[in-house]
Amino acid sequence: MRIDILTLFPEIALAPLNESIIKRAQKTNLVEIQAHNLRDWAKDKHRKTDDYLCGGGQGMLLKPEPIFDAVEELRQEDTKVILLTPQGQVFKQALARELSSSTHLIMLCGHYEGVDHRVIEELVDLELSIGDYVLTNGAIAAAVVADSIIRLIPGALGDARSPEEESFSDPNLLEAPAYTKPIDFRGLLVPNVLLSGHHAKIEAWKEEKARERTSQNRPDLAKVKKTRG
Ligand code: ADE
Repeated sequence: MRIDILTLFPEIALAPLNESIIKRAQKTNLVEIQAHNLRDWAKDKHRKTDDYLCGGGQGMLLKPEPIFDAVEELRQEDTKVILLTPQGQVFKQALARELSSSTHLIMLCGHYEGVDHRVIEELVDLELSIGDYVLTNGAIAAAVVADSIIRLIPGALGDARSPEEESFSDPNLLEAPAYTKPIDFRGLLVPNVLLSGHHAKIEAWKEEKARERTSQNRPDLAKVKKTRG
């Protein structure tokens, strides 16, 4: 997979992707990530990428020309162009899974009040939001979306960890609570059932706790009835 990130802040997008699992995925050629500064496609002498809103309104918008030039230069036949914006559809694990088999993604990061709408109409395949809040900058969201996609490329997590068993593998159930040693920490005990070695009982306990946790933390998900497996 190749990911090109178009942003005014390449370092913000790259910093989280150059550590740990995603760094290893780059080293082992599962993914190639390039972050580009949009200003490199600005033609005027001040390398201007933004302008005032037509019809008035607060703030500035990213101009269409540098974005069109950049996308047209980077785009290949099988490219998906993703715009990170709070106005997008909310990004979910199922879409991360679907996008993990893409060959080429261009992630366009909004800034200021967003991008000129002609960019969305002509160039963008998917508008994605990472949640119902506003960030200063879409490069942060691009790193989040890229991370969640890349870790699902087969081989990225290594043998020890399976993306099948985590929260959102069933989109309506969070993971059960988990414990490690010591078994007694300041009098706080690991639940006995987890030490029982009884596989079926452990699975039933996890299922029950996963449901409790989901109703407590995500009542919106808990309403939907579907079980793991
Ligand atoms: N840019 C600003 N806020 C955002 C959000 N919530 N998701 C994606 N891009 C954004």
